[in-house]
Amino acid sequence: MSTSRPRLIPEQLRSHRWFGPDDLRSFGHRSRLKQMGFAAGDWAGKPVVGILNTWSDMNTCHTHFKQRVEEVKRGVWQAGGFPVEIPVVSLSETFMKPSSMFYRNLLAMEAEEVLRCHPVDVAVLMGGCDKTTPALIMGAISANLPAIFFPCGPMIAGNWKGTKLGSGTDAWKYWAERGAGNIDECQWREIEDGIARSPGHCMTMGTASTMGAIAETLGLTLTGASSIPAVHSGHSRLATATGRRAVDLAWENLKITDVLSAESFDNAITVDMAIGGSTNAIIHLIAMAGRAGVNLGLERFDQISQRTPVIANLRPSGKYLMEDFHDAGGLPELLSRIPNLLKRDCLTVTGKTLGENIDAVCPDAVSRIAERGARVEGRTPANPPDPTIPANPQSAIGNRQSTDTPADVILWPDQPLAQAGATFVLRGNLAPDGCVIKPTAAEPRLLKHTGPALVFKDYADLKNRIDDDALPVTADTVIVLQSAGPVGAPGIPEWGMLPIPKKLLKQGVRDMVRISDARMSGTSYGTCVLHVSPESAAGGPLALVRDGDLIDLDVPARMIHLRVSDADLADRRKQWKPPEPRFDRGYGKLFCAECTQAHEGCDFKFLHATNGKPTPEPDIY
Ligand code: FES
Repeated sequence: MSTSRPRLIPEQLRSHRWFGPDDLRSFGHRSRLKQMGFAAGDWAGKPVVGILNTWSDMNTCHTHFKQRVEEVKRGVWQAGGFPVEIPVVSLSETFMKPSSMFYRNLLAMEAEEVLRCHPVDVAVLMGGCDKTTPALIMGAISANLPAIFFPCGPMIAGNWKGTKLGSGTDAWKYWAERGAGNIDECQWREIEDGIARSPGHCMTMGTASTMGAIAETLGLTLTGASSIPAVHSGHSRLATATGRRAVDLAWENLKITDVLSAESFDNAITVDMAIGGSTNAIIHLIAMAGRAGVNLGLERFDQISQRTPVIANLRPSGKYLMEDFHDAGGLPELLSRIPNLLKRDCLTVTGKTLGENIDAVCPDAVSRIAERGARVEGRTPANPPDPTIPANPQSAIGNRQSTDTPADVILWPDQPLAQAGATFVLRGNLAPDGCVIKPTAAEPRLLKHTGPALVFKDYADLKNRIDDDALPVTADTVIVLQSAGPVGAPGIPEWGMLPIPKKLLKQGVRDMVRISDARMSGTSYGTCVLHVSPESAAGGPLALVRDGDLIDLDVPARMIHLRVSDADLADRRKQWKPPEPRFDRGYGKLFCAECTQAHEGCDFKFLHATNGKPTPEPDIY
């Protein structure tokens, strides 16, 4: 059930410490607000809503945030709050090198500290492009104020001469066709023109879509928020509604850690599996849980994966794109189809439980499930939907949007895209601390495979040699990339969908077993074993693999094995030398010294919730 919480009085607001006292320091704070043209009536006794905006000219997914932030402010003013926009570093998935992941923890640190050091009562977190979502949430968890996430929304579908294009997924696909000689330069330019046609994040079920769905499932957004396309008018309405709700969150003092729990993380993992989500979500969820003091290990993903069918028919695992998903009812519709897999009583920022939010948007869900069950069992539906039940006026999404949406965008659990979830966790002598694979994005024939290794010592080596006609490679080869992990690369970049050698592309090969300590874009696909832990640069067994070694991959058995004896591996380890430190100074030095391994979430050790007492509120003197 939803909780009704006592409301604070103005003197209990956190910002009152800055503005309330009759002393010289508060005089300074008040006079400086007046410097900006605000009168006392604009802020006095009102919650200060800190809007963390990740707009940047270098972040193409957030180009509409200049307008959206004004719409959030409109909602804050409407509800009697005082909005302040606080720009924070934007993590552009496209342009940041070596990887935006290298800077996820930097944004998380910045988000935490700007919330702590300013007179903020509640945070609106404006993000969406890949790493911005986990980073903002990680920072907000550590700051532990009330907070609500505002997702940037997916971009509209790409198009090439009538063929729908999905971010990433179709770029990889047509790049392979170009390598095979099936696409010429002119056609490639046409695809370049048509694959990204509006603001918003990648519109496949990549990392951004996955993390948006996870934020909503964790209870950190308004209901139905995560799939609203960035240029949809509903996205503007969502912004204003988010601003309004933020003000109430401050009065209710509903902190982000009041919302997050082991159960809500289980829900998030369930959704990650049901949507065929990005493997990156594993790293981010472990990091977010670590900030919240929730103990979450790789095994939990595998356990939940085994019981959760994939029911979102979205690329790269399936067929459709995010605007189709939105028109089919978005996340609430998907959640309404798997009630038995969810902990429905988890609290959310709406002030209601996840189950109450779902029921409000999908009031006919119970009867539709009963009807479905009856049809599957060959009976007459006993409990048809009640057409008199109105749409929920409080939701961000309304009821299902379109009557001509294909019926197979969101599937039923009895006819899923895949019986088991999107991510399997593998272990073996090649990955003692685990690694992951997304079987739904792989060719099934390769999920049980043995082949000889072809080893590249780093990405430069791979780039130099992969298309060499003399490369000793066949379709059975297992391609191995070293030095692509958190410290080795650095920043565990999305290199894990290792390229197929051109000479094999020309022979028609489109998938091979590939293994690395890197990540893979959520829009990518193929039989790619990722996040091998410990990474090779830290002396993990991946560093010891040599050309020709046989590697066994058995995904159904959750096993990956290097057929080299323990004695030989010990000999090789004696010869192995750790790489020279890449950084002598600066953020890179901090990153390499503090970053944990993939199975631990790649957060900085000193930011984990259990690594010391909570940071105190700042003194104001
Ligand atoms: Fe921003 Fe893909 S580039 S989400």
